Amino acid sequence: MAAGRGCAEERMITIKSQREIELMRASGAIVAQVLDMIGREISEGMTTLRLDNLAEAYIRDNGGIPSFLNYVPKGDPGVTPYPATLCVSINEEVVHGVPSDRRVIQEGDIVSVDCGVFKGGYHGDAARTYMIGDVDSKVRQLVEVTRECLDRGISQAIAGNRLHDISAAVEEHARSFGFSVIQNMVGHGIGTELHEEPPVPNYGRRNTGVKLREGMALAIEPMIAMGKSRNAVSKNGAWVAVTEDGGPCAHFEHTIVVRSEGAEIMTLP
Ligand code: MF3
Ligand code: CO
Repeated sequence: MAAGRGCAEERMITIKSQREIELMRASGAIVAQVLDMIGREISEGMTTLRLDNLAEAYIRDNGGIPSFLNYVPKGDPGVTPYPATLCVSINEEVVHGVPSDRRVIQEGDIVSVDCGVFKGGYHGDAARTYMIGDVDSKVRQLVEVTRECLDRGISQAIAGNRLHDISAAVEEHARSFGFSVIQNMVGHGIGTELHEEPPVPNYGRRNTGVKLREGMALAIEPMIAMGKSRNAVSKNGAWVAVTEDGGPCAHFEHTIVVRSEGAEIMTLP
């Protein structure tokens, strides 16, 4: 989500009960199954709208509702409700690419697919970047490093750590390869609302931020750019946000719950 836009009415971080975590695991499983299905289906020559139609049908067949469809960001009444199930963001597009029957996936593209599912009163949210055919080796490295950034962030989501331990782990790994963290888009708390407190930045100092507590649910979502872009920019009223320098960007996301032994990933099939 966009940084600096209030995530929820209350400024409180909710703690999920065991029952709520089970419901989140059920929503998260559908998200993961959609992303697995996309991984099997996605190919050169396909339109991004085709992917969206497949995802929406899968979610509804499994008793869920697409979380993003008709979503209106809080505190941003100017923007139109989000018109699709998936965000499909290609190459220099960072996030919120709107599926279209005019957008055809090409050989060499990197395609970030973000999916949210609401079921049983709870949301799951995850994203993966897919590589189409023969991808430039440096771009391939960007995608692999971004996936590792997510893993490193998740490994810090332990009760007793602080929020920015996650952020710092993501940032340090990206920077060690000379890549840039997108700073004006962040992860977020998640639960009965898609976007809850706290914002989860992908940069920051260790040992700062709120203390992580057992039962906090977070969507951790590094967006890492190959060039020097620190922000994702969108044209007036448009949903899609692109890198400032036109360089490629990758995006991976999981919904997790903080536990004392380590994070538990909700968005697994
Ligand atoms: N995972 C993204 C986010 O948390 C997707 C949001 S799409 C929207 O911001 F339509 F819901 F905004
Ligand atoms: Co998200």
